[in-house]
Amino acid sequence: MKYISYFIFAAFIVVTLLFLRNALKPSDEPLLITGVEKCGECHKLKMLGNQLEVWQNSAHAKAYKSLLSEKASEFTAKNNLELPADNKVCLKCHTTEHFLKDFDKQPGYKTDEGVGCEACHGAGSKYSPAELHKEEEQFKKFGGIVGSEETCLKCHSPKGNKEQKVMENVCPFQLEDFVYKPALEKIKHLVNKDNF
Ligand code: HEC
Ligand code: HEC
Ligand code: HEC
Ligand code: HEC
Repeated sequence: MKYISYFIFAAFIVVTLLFLRNALKPSDEPLLITGVEKCGECHKLKMLGNQLEVWQNSAHAKAYKSLLSEKASEFTAKNNLELPADNKVCLKCHTTEHFLKDFDKQPGYKTDEGVGCEACHGAGSKYSPAELHKEEEQFKKFGGIVGSEETCLKCHSPKGNKEQKVMENVCPFQLEDFVYKPALEKIKHLVNKDNF
């Protein structure tokens, strides 16, 4: 009888350990775009550094709206291109979903967020629970991207486009050359390390 309870106890330990191991491993479910609102549930907290507000005040939050502007549609009309908000080339750099075109979206995602958190940090459905992305190593394992100059160069070109030529990889409205350090300074949104 005693041996049976030992056995049950040992089996319980094994099952618990397996469960914990799986809980800390990325699941096989598809990785989805959550949208900025989801990130903002935590990242609007003052004690964390309110990254949401910094982003809301940055040009990236207006990136989709800019495609609806007169200067955008004048440009596409003049060059016989599809309207900016229907144009896959423009949308690629001006919205999270077209930039991350291989990922599906959660219902909370909205196109008009423009260039949201996940365009730079990667689709977030797996790392979103805070405990899975406080540590950099865990964050990366669950699809997170820390962000660096390389991230920016996917949309900003080192050489500006003064003649406003039609190109797939350079915006007709990026007139100036892109320089990482001063550009990062304009959008930086640090964590309040004193509290974490
Ligand atoms: C390769 C990525 C990329 C593509 C493709 C792209 N854009 Fe842009 N767009 C940018 C970036 C980056 C900026 C910011 C440039 C800067 O200020 O230096 C920008 C800025 C703009 C602005 C200026 C916003 C303002 O008023 O300051 C407009 C308008 C715009 N883009 C429209 C378009 C249209 C229309 C298309 C398609 C024909 C397009 N973009 C294609 C990346 C892109
Ligand atoms: C449940 C709360 C919560 C949600 C939701 C959340 N975060 Fe976080 N995030 C945190 C906390 C807490 C930290 C840790 C801050 C620290 O310790 O430096 C963090 C850290 C980060 C970091 C730094 C990671 C590192 O290790 O370098 C990034 C980047 C980040 N979050 C982006 C996002 C993005 C993008 C989303 C949405 C897809 C998101 N977070 C959703 C709470 C959250
Ligand atoms: C998914 C595409 C994309 C990525 C990635 C991206 N940007 Fe942008 N960025 C844009 C677009 C589009 C605009 C123009 C938004 C508008 O005004 O409509 C812009 C505008 C800006 C502006 C305002 C224009 C200016 O020069 O003052 C800054 C600053 C900026 N980005 C910095 C960065 C930095 C730094 C990175 C990398 C950490 C980065 N961006 C990554 C698409 C992107
Ligand atoms: C245009 C690209 C871009 C966007 C959009 C963006 N980030 Fe970041 N983020 C970065 C880069 C690059 C870094 C690393 C900065 C550095 O090296 O100092 C970073 C760092 C962070 C960090 C860590 C800061 C620290 O002190 O270590 C957090 C947290 C974070 N981002 C959250 C967010 C959230 C939440 C959003 C959306 C509300 C967001 N980011 C939108 C590019 C971006």
